[in-house]
Amino acid sequence: MRYTKYINNDWLYKPDFKEEYINTTFDGKGFEKVELPHTNIEIPYNCFDEKIYQFTSCYRRKLSLTNWYKNKKIFIDFEGIMIYAKVYLNGNCISEHKGGYTPFSVDITNYVNFNEENILVVMVDSTERKDIPPYGYVVDYLTYGGIYREVKLRIVDKLFIENVQVKVKDTLSNNIYTEIDVYLENTFDIGKYCEIKASIIDGGNTIDSKVNKFAIKAKEKTKVTIFMDNFKNIELWDLDNPKLYSCHIEISDNKKVKDSFETKFGFRQAIFKEDGFYLNKIKTKLIGLNRHQSYPYVGYAMPERVQKKDAEILKYDLGLNVVRTSHYPQSRHFLDRCDEIGLLVFEEIPGWQHIGNNEWKTVALNNVKDMIYRDWNRPSVILWGVRINESQDDHDFYKATNEIACKMDETRQTAGVRYLPKSELLEDVFTLNDFTHNGGKKVLMSAKKAVGNNKTPYLVTEYNGHMYPTKRFDQEERLVEHSLRHIRVINKQLWNSRISGGIGWCAFDYNTHKEFGSGDKICYHGVMDMFRIPKYAASVYASQSDHKLVMDIISLGSIGEKDESKALPLHILTNCDYVVLYKNNIEIDKYYPDKKIYKNLYHPPIVIKHIINPDIENEPVRKKDVKVLKETIKEIMSNGKEGLSLKLRIQVLWVMFRNKIKIQNMIEILSKYVAGWGTEETYYTFVGYKNDEEVIRKTIGGNVYASKLLLRADDNILVTSLSSYDATRIVVKLLDNRGNILPFINEFIEFEVSGPVKIIGPKKVGLIGGTIATWIKTTGEKGDVKIKAKCSRFNSNEINIVVK
Ligand code: GAL
Repeated sequence: MRYTKYINNDWLYKPDFKEEYINTTFDGKGFEKVELPHTNIEIPYNCFDEKIYQFTSCYRRKLSLTNWYKNKKIFIDFEGIMIYAKVYLNGNCISEHKGGYTPFSVDITNYVNFNEENILVVMVDSTERKDIPPYGYVVDYLTYGGIYREVKLRIVDKLFIENVQVKVKDTLSNNIYTEIDVYLENTFDIGKYCEIKASIIDGGNTIDSKVNKFAIKAKEKTKVTIFMDNFKNIELWDLDNPKLYSCHIEISDNKKVKDSFETKFGFRQAIFKEDGFYLNKIKTKLIGLNRHQSYPYVGYAMPERVQKKDAEILKYDLGLNVVRTSHYPQSRHFLDRCDEIGLLVFEEIPGWQHIGNNEWKTVALNNVKDMIYRDWNRPSVILWGVRINESQDDHDFYKATNEIACKMDETRQTAGVRYLPKSELLEDVFTLNDFTHNGGKKVLMSAKKAVGNNKTPYLVTEYNGHMYPTKRFDQEERLVEHSLRHIRVINKQLWNSRISGGIGWCAFDYNTHKEFGSGDKICYHGVMDMFRIPKYAASVYASQSDHKLVMDIISLGSIGEKDESKALPLHILTNCDYVVLYKNNIEIDKYYPDKKIYKNLYHPPIVIKHIINPDIENEPVRKKDVKVLKETIKEIMSNGKEGLSLKLRIQVLWVMFRNKIKIQNMIEILSKYVAGWGTEETYYTFVGYKNDEEVIRKTIGGNVYASKLLLRADDNILVTSLSSYDATRIVVKLLDNRGNILPFINEFIEFEVSGPVKIIGPKKVGLIGGTIATWIKTTGEKGDVKIKAKCSRFNSNEINIVVK
């Protein structure tokens, strides 16, 4: 049977490389102990020299293997090393690998000294090598360095399973069946005639199994296909019920099990057609964002829980149904979570605008193979991106990438992201970054203009981004416009049935090269910042779904923050049915979603254009006339004086006549009751209703001041049983007396931590826009953890975490 063990601990690391480090006799001088995932250097949040991670480093680890494994095959599986690696065992160079985003395995069998200590050495070159994608030209993201994903020791029999592909066919018919391709290798000197057993498992129950015989020659690699069709009451994988099944394969020789392999998969049909995307025949508009897999301080090197959390943020906090892994295959943990929670994925090969020479292209072709080989069973993956993001046409190259994808996986469509409309299409789906919207009237180009016909399936893969970079602590109006630009595009794509969906740029701010971003090595294009803390635009997405209750008033409630001190219009991003507004606790009005302007949205925003001073009720005119005054104020505020209808003009004249009001007095009355934020203390309370029941309440404005430092952890239980260390995010917020973040406060925060965890990144940080986060990671010990934060004015609450 196979034996696997993660070897993510006990590595020794040095941020340089010398030939002597390869020798078994080298004494390890200058090396420090590290664990994987590891970044070759911790970097500051911003404003660093981007060259700091571009160097060659060395990782060393002892490996002990007993005689017991003498007649086995022994592999080391590397999940991701940035960007080039050479692997040595006991002084012998065994293998090299180009490319930082795909896994590779090294067969160390012939170099192992059994019952002795073995020295595994990895030379990691994290320079931006022109022979490896994405490099060769400028790139709008950093790639960081190090062995940033996990490593596993895998010991198998000499006849073993390399991989398994489960292809579900005729998914929605009564004749549903699976074609299971088992990739086998026989390294024995003799041929074998063996049994192979495939089982489909639902939770703990085997729902079907099948045994076949197969013959494999000496030193041969082969594929054995098993068909299974006994499927009754299969649950489909979909967005609300992402049902996963397991396929378990066992091979036996002479009744003895020699190897086994298990993979998860789902029964689902995903297809892009000319009129949109269909999941299990249900037309599903795709609403998503692009994700870079980077984090502050450690770049790409985050462990399982943190990777999974990103998928949860996208699905539950932002309410998305699709993510594009821009611009490379991402962590398997992230994708596992997408499978588990029902978040669709557009996965693509590494690259950015540039296509290199033949050597470079060979690496790109390998990337296509390795991406598909790793992820072909994932129900979440609905498209293979087989073009370099935003590159020019290259017929032969893209013919080759498409051929690889079609040959390896006929169950999924291909796409390739471009910025040139009508560029050559060798894929199944035309995917374009459409940056038409610049705040003006034009929002998206027509599918016909983008694709050149009315037939090819069409998906928008980016919008906004560099068109309107926005920091979380920018002036309110910029943040509001940032949100509105996202809303307008979603509204438009939902309306256009030729567009399968839109994937905006982007989910999280990210570190980038000097040619991009705000000059501080950050692109502020996210709807959340690098710490995954939301900007207003995050609520645009969140409010379109019903995963959680959303009612975000996207204003600080302070007229001085607004251009020309104009308090209105005021936008509320919400999935409530309506909102009732109170001024200083006096009810003003009920406001409904703006279905006129945003008619295609699931939950249009509420736009408050008029707030009428409540004491208008005490005006010494007849009740009926108060109504006319209110109507008139609303109309003037929404459409200007010129927009007053004839009917209202006549009514106003009547009011004046009946109450003996002169024109000048009438103007005074009207302006007296147009409420802005007021001169006296004015605060506004918004109460959200669903099905006529109050569900949420928020207050803004008035005399606000710093009142509390709030600390929260994403998780209260961490474990030592994962394949590597565990980690979670800690968020600290400086809140005002109404419970809102104060985006313009600058305070130094110091974290105090006790127990078996370490802080990732600095212990002292400045608040960024009133809040910041950090991550803590386990040290391998179990026990109780206590965390507190302090600033000059407040101590936060204490949070307790247990490491089990
Ligand atoms: C696109 C590119 C993205 C990002 C974005 C910013 O052209 O594909 O990676 O740079 O622009 O808007």
